[in-house]
Amino acid sequence: MTAGGDLAALVTRAVQEADAAGSVDAVRQIETDLLGKRGELARAQRSLGSLEPEARRSAGQEIQLTRARIEEVLERRRSVLAGAERAERLAGERLDLTEILDVQYRGRVHIVQRTRDELEDVFVGMGFFVAEGPEIETDWYNFEALNMPIAHPARGMWDTFYLELGDPETVVLRTHTSPVQIRLLQQQEPPLYAVMPGRCYRHDTPDARHTPIFHQIEGLVVDRGISFADLAGTIETFTTAYFGPDIHARLRPAYFPFTEPSAEYEITCTICKGAGCRTCSQTGWVELGGAGMVDPAVFAAVGLDAEEWSGFAFGFGIDRCAQMRHEIPDMRVLIENDVRVLRQL
Ligand code: DAH
Repeated sequence: MTAGGDLAALVTRAVQEADAAGSVDAVRQIETDLLGKRGELARAQRSLGSLEPEARRSAGQEIQLTRARIEEVLERRRSVLAGAERAERLAGERLDLTEILDVQYRGRVHIVQRTRDELEDVFVGMGFFVAEGPEIETDWYNFEALNMPIAHPARGMWDTFYLELGDPETVVLRTHTSPVQIRLLQQQEPPLYAVMPGRCYRHDTPDARHTPIFHQIEGLVVDRGISFADLAGTIETFTTAYFGPDIHARLRPAYFPFTEPSAEYEITCTICKGAGCRTCSQTGWVELGGAGMVDPAVFAAVGLDAEEWSGFAFGFGIDRCAQMRHEIPDMRVLIENDVRVLRQL
């Protein structure tokens, strides 16, 4: 073997291959090929046996020198590649705790809840307190104590969901917030001025103005010497406070078993401004709820003397208020939870 030329070629090859190597693993492969037990240099080493002692020694030194050179070349390349690989790994694992990302979609309070809060504020400003009652009610609270005995035809005004609980048809999803009037009168002595907001349920087919789950706010005032004028004034004050002076309210004679006299409470349709549209069934008015003077039968159900006490009550839809004030043509969007709609409200 003419060791010198071959060995110089090996060093050159090492330099070229190391330059081309893209990873620490690739360098390791070159090392195996050139310096390993079955590698090029080992083959040269094995051939030393056939040389004269003198020639063997100098050839052996050259091989050692070559090995050292190649090791140096590979080591230099390895350290460059290892540094780059480490930098890349650190960049991948980087976790910047101070990083601030754009918050694209921030949640917000649902329009119905917001409306409820605003209505409560209006009434609290008028001196009312806020009370709540259960959504699952007994027949007695939802109907009977409100002057609707079993089989009373007025019960047909509410398409009721009955629960399979207790005796048949004794437990309901409340169809209105009026039963909270009864609960409050049982708990508290008059005089009282209260509003009672909450969720109600009716077996209605959904349309532009009805959803089977909706919200009402009930009002109850019981004191001495309360008149229908107090009721009308309260409704008027609330309407202008909430909808603004351009929206008019009207009371029309109606029938509710728990008030006498009773009225239906309507406001100008805000969508068509009274001209008539799909939302108001072309009438220009939208019914918000009912009202009236507390019927003596209701006082009797809770053991209050109707000679001493008088009062008025009202109840209307919170969703309907939201619909009117924010001019939402179809109330179904309030429960569909389409974020494209909710983001606009
Ligand atoms: N509870 C009635 C309903 O949901 C509305 C109502 C009418 C409430 C007259 C009242 C009232 O307090 O006095 O249809």
